[in-house]
Order: sequence, then C-alpha cells, then structure tokens
Amino acid sequence: MSLDEFNCGDDDLNEFFKIDAAQNEKELLGKTYSLTREGYEITDQNPPIALICYCNGSIHVNLAEDFQRQEGVTYYEYLPAVKIARLGVHQDFKGYHIGDLVLTMTKSIFLSQNRTGCRILIVDAYKKDKVVKFYEENGFQRIHESNKEKKASTWTMYYDLKRFQEQKGVFF
Ligand SMILES: CC(C)(COP(=O)(O)OP(=O)(O)OC[C@H]1O[C@@H](n2cnc3c(N)ncnc32)[C@H](O)[C@@H]1OP(=O)(O)O)[C@@H](O)C(=O)NCCC(=O)NCCS
Repeated sequence: MSLDEFNCGDDDLNEFFKIDAAQNEKELLGKTYSLTREGYEITDQNPPIALICYCNGSIHVNLAEDFQRQEGVTYYEYLPAVKIARLGVHQDFKGYHIGDLVLTMTKSIFLSQNRTGCRILIVDAYKKDKVVKFYEENGFQRIHESNKEKKASTWTMYYDLKRFQEQKGVFF
C-alpha cells in the first residue's frame, strides 16, 4: 500500500492527497505531512496512515469570540492562523485515535515552532456529526453561524493555541 492506495473514505480528499498535494506544495500553496509507521518517507513498505495539509490563514477576531484575551494587549482585526486544509486517516486505522494524535501533534508543532506568530488553528470541517464531534472533542469551537455558514457544506472551527500552552504549561 503506497500513497496510490491511500483511502480515507472520502473521494475528494483521496484525490487531493494523491494528485493535488504535490502541485500545491510546488506552488507554495500548502504543505502536506504524513504519519507512517517509521519516519516520514512514504514507500510501499511504509505507507501513510494519516495525511494532513496545512496552509496559512487568518480569522476575524469577532468570529473567534472565545479566544483568550489578555488585558492590556492590542489584538488586531485578524488573528494569524494555520489552517488545516485537509486531514485524512486511512480507513484501516480509523477509530484508533490516530486523528486525535495528529491534532495534538499539530498543536504542539505550531506552539514550539511558532516562527511567524500563529495564534489560532482553523479548519473547515465537513458538516457531518462525527467529523464535527471529532474536532469538538479536540477543543475546536465552531465560529458563529452566519447565513453563508448555514448554506455551506463545512463549518469553520477554531482552536486557540494559548489554551494548549496553558494546559501543557509550555512557555516559549
Ligand atoms: C475524521 C477523521 C480524521 C478522524 O480520525 P480518526 O483517527 O478516525 O478519529 P479518532 O480515532 O481520533 O476518533 C476520535 C473520535 O472521532 C469520531 N469519528 C469521526 N469520524 C469517524 C469515522 N469516520 N470513523 C470512526 N470514528 C470517527 C469517533 O467517534 C471518535 O470518537 P470516540 O472516541 O468517542 O469514539 C477520520 O475519520 C477521517 O479521515 N475521515 C474521513 C475524512 C474526513 O472527514 N476528514 C475531515 C475533513 S474536515
């Protein structure tokens, strides 16, 4: 099983990872990472268990209502964010908390290597109960619903990295 056989159960996502991700990376539009049994190199013997694509993003402060404000700090209109552009766990590995692990690693990576200033994680989560619950259980919150959001097939959800920093007692 190599990348060609990666199947997270969603055709659009599968196609993205197999065809578009590499091109996206060349165009500096996104960066895809893989979780495998050993290291990061994908081979027939070391296929991807999960794939995640990140890109830069931002979110209006009014949409991320519950982010933690510190007195005396000026917050700009848009908070800098990293967007989880795509996430898929191979079908054979679903339900083993691999997705949870990938989100925990994401929080940790962007706190410890926060080279550009990144306060929030955002994701456009499929409006499916299981998917929304998955992100909610990982601390993500839905942005406040507008008419546009109601019609869309995804919910924009966000996670304030300050919360992770406080939970873990990490200071950088
Ligand atoms: C959504 C997804 C990334 C979750 O990863 P995962 O490794 O299966 O999730 P976990 O094992 O960490 O499960 C955490 C919770 O998510 C729920 N869940 C969400 N989608 C699920 C699925 N398709 N199958 C099984 N559990 C799922 C489980 O109920 C579980 O809750 P529980 O601990 O109360 O049982 C993965 O199922 C997937 O790739 N789905 C298809 C692609 C997709 O929808 N990606 C998200 C795009 S926004």
